[in-house]
Amino acid sequence: MSEFESYDYDVIVIGAGGAGLRAAIESSRQGANTAIICKSLLGKAHTVMAEGGAAAALANVDDRDGWQTHFKDTMKGGKYLNNWRMAQIHAKESADRIRELEQWGAVFDRTPSGLINQRNFGGHTYPRLAHVGDSTGLEIIRTLQEKGIHSGVDVYMEYTVSHLLQDDDGTCIGCVAYNRVDGSMHAYSAKSIVLATGGITRCWSVCSGSWEYTGDGHALALNAGADLIDMEFVQFHPTGMVWPPSVRGILVTEGVRGEGGVLKNSEGKRFMFDNVPDMFKGDHAETEEEATEWVRQVVAGEKASVRRPPELLTRDVVAKAINKEVAEGRGSTHGGAYLDIATQRTAEEIIAKLPSMHHQFMELAGVDITKEPMEVGPTAHYVMGGVRVDAETQESTVSGLYAAGEVASGLHGANRLGGNSLSDLIVFGKRAGEHAAKRAASLEQPTLDNAAIESAIAENLAPLAREGGENPGKVYDELREMMQQKVGIIRTKDDLETAITDLKEFKDRVSMTSSGSSMTYNSGWHQALDLKNMVDISHVCTLAALTRTESRGGHTRDDFPVPDKGMWSHTTNVLKKENGEITIHQEDLEQPPEELEKLLDRSKKEA
Ligand code: FUM
Repeated sequence: MSEFESYDYDVIVIGAGGAGLRAAIESSRQGANTAIICKSLLGKAHTVMAEGGAAAALANVDDRDGWQTHFKDTMKGGKYLNNWRMAQIHAKESADRIRELEQWGAVFDRTPSGLINQRNFGGHTYPRLAHVGDSTGLEIIRTLQEKGIHSGVDVYMEYTVSHLLQDDDGTCIGCVAYNRVDGSMHAYSAKSIVLATGGITRCWSVCSGSWEYTGDGHALALNAGADLIDMEFVQFHPTGMVWPPSVRGILVTEGVRGEGGVLKNSEGKRFMFDNVPDMFKGDHAETEEEATEWVRQVVAGEKASVRRPPELLTRDVVAKAINKEVAEGRGSTHGGAYLDIATQRTAEEIIAKLPSMHHQFMELAGVDITKEPMEVGPTAHYVMGGVRVDAETQESTVSGLYAAGEVASGLHGANRLGGNSLSDLIVFGKRAGEHAAKRAASLEQPTLDNAAIESAIAENLAPLAREGGENPGKVYDELREMMQQKVGIIRTKDDLETAITDLKEFKDRVSMTSSGSSMTYNSGWHQALDLKNMVDISHVCTLAALTRTESRGGHTRDDFPVPDKGMWSHTTNVLKKENGEITIHQEDLEQPPEELEKLLDRSKKEA
């Protein structure tokens, strides 16, 4: 008999980033007895990596904006593979959620007339990102955390959920977690569970993700039999730090380009002018003079031209353009591109608008961005794919299991617009918490099966007892490097097929790792458990990437370089685990109703 502590809750929220905190606040507001279980310390979540702002059509800086344009931009940026209803809900509700944060104490930057200030970002027609300098995610977490702890939510910090528990019908009724500090085991009965675990980008060696980002929620859902969709679509943010090596991948906010920053290659050329895809022609300035005039308008607080500089193309386009410059020998000294704000804005403006970037480059790279260009390159930042959810309630295909934020899928289609993540968290976090609590209100407390708990605990303890296996850290590094090389920004059939073979080997290696036997703060043990999720989720991404024989958004196939104008323009890859095996099939994507279709400018659509 293993020892464990037991708890009963109406709603358990797994994860304490923006989506998890917002879900827990809403669940508690509905009267549900709610707990958050989070892998890290409260206040330390990847949400802080959304630096530049939260997109919402407040129309404070440009009154031409409205939810309809936000909806259209989101669908176009997602190459029309978005769940149209999620895109509509998000565009309509994000402004209210931002105003609510302000009421709860978030200190947004202000316009001269005292409204929440908004900045430009890639793919957004108008300045739309409510921001706090370049630390917006941090401010949102701080605000939600304050609200959450005063809402009576219990918090289990530094606990990792390893297993979901289900009844005979497959309904989700609880979970098992281990305490990272002392290795103790915990079983939770819950009427509803909300996954808000964020993403998967630690599966790549160059990434902006925090250490928690090992795909735990994606794997929990997969193991519970839930559908995952769109897993081939991984966002490589165009601007991560490339140097020094110890900080490679750390995010350089898109806010730099939103404030007028320009990208140049080693020949001093603004190469983005040569990289405007057909579907975006007409949306962007065609000459340096036109782009410079746009910056002047922004700085002067005038209504700027909707023909934005090409540096504000969507992230998929900019990341691939930088990749091309490097591959063709025109990269920066350390293998990226030059991002220059110093020649576009004054030192005072840069320090006021981008204080964290100024600090980050000064401290980590010895670069003064008010005087010198930054070196930047693509970094794995976000996964558009995740748990398939109902647009209204955020319930997954497993009864009682909800998902919100990055772990959920649908809103962003093939590519997410910058800033749409923070608003996604608060719009759909709220909805998930509300519906999870409403469901719980009509249910009895589920009884957990001790045998299922014991079996989960035995699996968790296994690496501690194994001897002679590889160190988990070695397998972790090699897995991430393999994914970077073979399932990176540009993919080929051969690489993807080899990756599938490699992943089968990684699965065997992971099952034999030895971590030493200590249960106290044993990061090797935690890594051995994380690795199981990372291998499964890497497999799901690779299989989806192999299956999708076209290039679209965050998925680029060297052997199928253009979007497919046939089947793939309306088809979704659906992944499941059945009898322990990962399977994939395709489904037709529901198209928007006529009144919304009219809002979309599909005339220049690539596919
Ligand atoms: O570039 C950024 O500040 C990131 C924002 C986001 O991913 O939404």
